Amino acid sequence: MPQWNPGTSMNCFFQTSLIPENPILKVNPIKRGYLYLEEWFNYSFGPEWNPLYHLGTLTFFFFWVVLVSGIYLFIFFDTSLSGAYASVEYLTHEQWYLGGVMRSLHRYASDAAIVTILLHMFREFALDRYRGFRWFSWVTGVPTLWFVITLGITGYWLVWDELGLYVAVLSSQLMDALPIVSGSMASNFLEGQLTDRFFTLMGFLHLLGQPVLLIFVLWIHVKRLSHVEISAPRGLAIGSFLALLTLSLIYPAVSHAPADLHKVPAELNLDWFYLNIYPLLDTLTAGQTWIVTIGITFLLMLMPWLPPKKTGKAAEVHLDECNGCGQCAVDCPFDAISVQARTDSARWEYEVVVEDSLCAACGICVGSCHSSNPFRRSSKTLETGIDMPQFPIDEVRTRTREALAGTQGEVRVLLIGCQHALDAERLKSENVAVLSLLCTGMMPPTLVEYALKQGADGVFVTGCRQGDCYYRYGNVWMDKRFEGVRKPVLRERADRSRIQIFRAAETDHKQLLNRLAGFQRQILDAKAEDIGAQGRQQAGGGRA
Ligand code: HEM
Repeated sequence: MPQWNPGTSMNCFFQTSLIPENPILKVNPIKRGYLYLEEWFNYSFGPEWNPLYHLGTLTFFFFWVVLVSGIYLFIFFDTSLSGAYASVEYLTHEQWYLGGVMRSLHRYASDAAIVTILLHMFREFALDRYRGFRWFSWVTGVPTLWFVITLGITGYWLVWDELGLYVAVLSSQLMDALPIVSGSMASNFLEGQLTDRFFTLMGFLHLLGQPVLLIFVLWIHVKRLSHVEISAPRGLAIGSFLALLTLSLIYPAVSHAPADLHKVPAELNLDWFYLNIYPLLDTLTAGQTWIVTIGITFLLMLMPWLPPKKTGKAAEVHLDECNGCGQCAVDCPFDAISVQARTDSARWEYEVVVEDSLCAACGICVGSCHSSNPFRRSSKTLETGIDMPQFPIDEVRTRTREALAGTQGEVRVLLIGCQHALDAERLKSENVAVLSLLCTGMMPPTLVEYALKQGADGVFVTGCRQGDCYYRYGNVWMDKRFEGVRKPVLRERADRSRIQIFRAAETDHKQLLNRLAGFQRQILDAKAEDIGAQGRQQAGGGRA
């Protein structure tokens, strides 16, 4: 009968879990700060509603609010130079209960969109998700920011109050500095030559031209991604809307005095989200302002190469093992895999093909392939339909076996992590074997069963935080495979009590250690219970 002493075993967990230095301090301070902020939001909102995980979709939601409120405003808006101000005043004061609220929603949702765009941008930067294969999303993201800002600028222009005039005159100064614009727009304004036609053109730009262009730029922005979410979670959308509505009721958006070319406004309340360039003209010439703006834009666009980041080798298709089911193409978060008619003489209709330039080398496709089954014995080397040259599935299987063979103790755990979250290798100990994958989405569910068969008492899966995968969908697909709702599924017969998932970023070291120790304790208790039950059974059998 196996011998078991709970007292000594418990001590051994905590001893093996001790680490000599604080690994959190090794994380770059910007990323560390951001991860702490994200964690705080996770505590407050939960991962599902954490706004920091939904910055792109929240921006889309604010655009919807802007669109709907904008359509309402347009119904009452007079696009003539003489009638514009009065029509906005009517909406703001006479119809404050609806028109005024719509105007405020329009303004505050536009401001909120800038906040979420800037946060979205900062997040990609802080988490180093803007270089390597992500260069395209980053580079196409920068102009979207400008498109949104110019949309706001024409919006302020249309109110035709003192602020609108300020925007119009300074924008014209900026345009005059460009060699492509003939004549002097600024002096036209000052000489009162602004015509209704020009004002209507502005209205057209703001209401139709710029939004259509923005949609086009956004389409390009997310073109290289698949499964792009554009709807914010309902709770988050409702909460954000209520916040905007409350703000609109407490601080309704109002106009300045009507535009008057002969009067210098005493004070202007600038919207710094949109009109931040104009104050530069107090100290710089229009030409210098262009140079600064274009310079910053180029610098931002060059960032993915300052310094560049290498992407691993692209996935490779092994037609001998591919039946063209296309699951890898469906799962690929970067649209790098497509299905085409078979090019060999195999009996299958389709095969998959990888577009190397789009491949992020995440290995999620390997986890999707039903052939990535470590139990297969067809040949000495485990071959699969699609594989990662830098970490083939055969090596994954070998390392699993070897790592477990190197462990000892009463509770031997295989900890499976990824290379973009907490460094799993640091948690290696005499009773914890570690397998660090490119992404946890690379793990075929059968690997878990295989590890249990190879002597692991438990499998502990970590990787990027819940709701946030470095490769977008790795941990999402993994969860669904484990839940049995996405192929390939973790089989029913896999003992769930010996599998635990706890996602952890670099700053979650302590929490992970606690969960791991708890998991080991749970297995130990279960073992003790089993041994007790066996003992009771044997004793009962003996008496009988
Ligand atoms: C109108 C403004 C923007 C909107 C609505 C928007 C929206 C989105 C959406 C929905 C995604 C896909 C996220 C996902 O499903 O994982 C995305 C990805 C991305 N965006 Fe934006 N974005 C905007 C502006 C920007 C800007 C200004 C930048 C940076 C300069 C940027 C950088 C990125 C990057 C690097 C990704 C790739 C993320 C990944 O591969 O995981 N975006 N954006």
